[in-house]
Amino acid sequence: MCGIVGILNSQSLKSEAIEILKKLEYRGYDSAGISLFSEQKIKTIKSVGKISNLEKKSKNIKDKSFSGVIGHTRWATHGVVNRNNAHPFANENLTLVCNGIIENYGQIQNRYKEIPKNIKSDTEVSFYYLSYLIDKYKDSDEAIKVFQKTIRGNFAFVIFIKRNNCFYILKNGSPISISNKNQSFYICSDSSILSNYHDTIFHCEDGDIIKIYESKISYLQKKLKITFQKNISYQNPYDKGDYQHFMLKEIHEQPSVLKSTQSKYTSEYFVDFETKFRHLFDGDKIVLVGCGTAYHASMVGEYYFNHFTNKEVSTELASELRYKKINKNKQILFIFISQSGETMDTLMALKYVKKMNHKSIVITNSLESSMIREAEVTIPTYAQKEVGVASTKAFTCQLLSLANLALEVGRMEKTISNQIYKTNIGLLTKLPSKIEKLIKEFTPGAKIISKKLAQANACYFIGRNIAYPIALEGSLKLKEISYMHSEGFPGGEMKHGPIALIDKDTITVCLIPKNDLFEKSVSNAQEISARNGKIIILSSVRNMSKINGEIKVINMPKENIIDTPFIYTIPLQLISYYFALYEGTDIDQPRNLAKSVTVE
Ligand code: AGP
Repeated sequence: MCGIVGILNSQSLKSEAIEILKKLEYRGYDSAGISLFSEQKIKTIKSVGKISNLEKKSKNIKDKSFSGVIGHTRWATHGVVNRNNAHPFANENLTLVCNGIIENYGQIQNRYKEIPKNIKSDTEVSFYYLSYLIDKYKDSDEAIKVFQKTIRGNFAFVIFIKRNNCFYILKNGSPISISNKNQSFYICSDSSILSNYHDTIFHCEDGDIIKIYESKISYLQKKLKITFQKNISYQNPYDKGDYQHFMLKEIHEQPSVLKSTQSKYTSEYFVDFETKFRHLFDGDKIVLVGCGTAYHASMVGEYYFNHFTNKEVSTELASELRYKKINKNKQILFIFISQSGETMDTLMALKYVKKMNHKSIVITNSLESSMIREAEVTIPTYAQKEVGVASTKAFTCQLLSLANLALEVGRMEKTISNQIYKTNIGLLTKLPSKIEKLIKEFTPGAKIISKKLAQANACYFIGRNIAYPIALEGSLKLKEISYMHSEGFPGGEMKHGPIALIDKDTITVCLIPKNDLFEKSVSNAQEISARNGKIIILSSVRNMSKINGEIKVINMPKENIIDTPFIYTIPLQLISYYFALYEGTDIDQPRNLAKSVTVE
């Protein structure tokens, strides 16, 4: 994980590096650091915690006599969170930062007596190893090549070696891009940030060793020319406006981003679907893949495909798929879902299925991501940048993408009539106003429920059929931002074990839309209530009086299968948000998490 920045030849190295690191904080906020450097000296400042601590600590440092800076914000993988394990790792000749994991660091550490045996960070081991190579080889380029050949894993390194005044960028797996104008260079692990600096960009590729020396950029090992291309420019998403948190802002942005995503799909993206997409759907099977919230979107996608098409469809966690055998003789279409387009588990699973010659689609919110560069076909979601670590608007846009895709495939394969297709597209078009109303009407209720949650020891979420993945998502939201113990279950599974968890100190949120499983879902809620568990029922059916015990009923708008996941997601996002607010947690940057998980 972690975020990396590098800047060469700018007027305000320190402040720009800190400004970029603040934008990269979504990649981790355990510790941070910068190294300012020139041909004469290297100066390093590090601190534990958020970038604001680093900013305070480096306040009095003057940067005028330096020619460049590298910086890092860390999400700890190897080695505890402390100042020593913060990047950059530096001495008087070398400074470096890394994003990723060096898998063979233990072997390297054991092999060389020059590397201390008590250090735990894979990057620190790499630092000592590279220093050793620099001493051994007269030529620093040679040292870098040997270094890159020896280390194994997914990583991006940015390195400055004072001895020859050279700057190096190494990439294998983790993203890193460079923007350039005249003498000045900006390097960053999030290419979208670079659009604020120069309008040209170069995305490094796996295996690249790039060298910048006296403002000239070149490949160290390939005889290729580096060509910068036009950069996409982004609006500034790092402004909370009147909202207290990005998460709340992003919850409220859902009507507008769903509207623009749906309008792009119907007026542009899915027009002439058969000509554009038929070749992808002529195989035996569809597998939907994602991690975390994106995995829950995949699960919803499975229900959509199951309902609107006759395709064989299943869902996989990216981190598991990568290590499974895949039938080479079957024609499988894999659909990868990722907000960031950078999640390492998903990216690796994508590379794996590509290697096996299977077809792939990537649904992503990031138009400048590694997955876009790997994908056979990309379906963008237009949620705009999501800053809060807990995914909200990106999730509902993923659902919208999958709903449209399943409807298009159903219509193409004639498993649904034109009329059913039109009715459902109509429902998706009306969704933004329905959601806007729901956010407004449910906010006071969410505040009340959040106080009830404060009295419970654990909170469970149950749902069946298409409401089941939403129960999982509701539970994930609650635990990630409030740290309350929570689980999501399919309602029918409670009696097979989880019901043992129920007592008077638990709250179970039951999602009960009006569908074929309505009666059974009511019984599942009843079974919990009969064991003294408190329950909160979300349902569009008005008469729930036959359930006894301590219950609270929230009236939901009438739903159809296509809009059920959206409608039931909104209250759960609001409940989590207001409960976390009540608990006083760090909502936009919850402990131990990062927005973009670029390690396996
Ligand atoms: C979302 O609330 C989570 N923080 C997390 O589960 C996330 O969805 C997951 O890491 C996948 O990210 P991606 O969509 O960027 O691939």
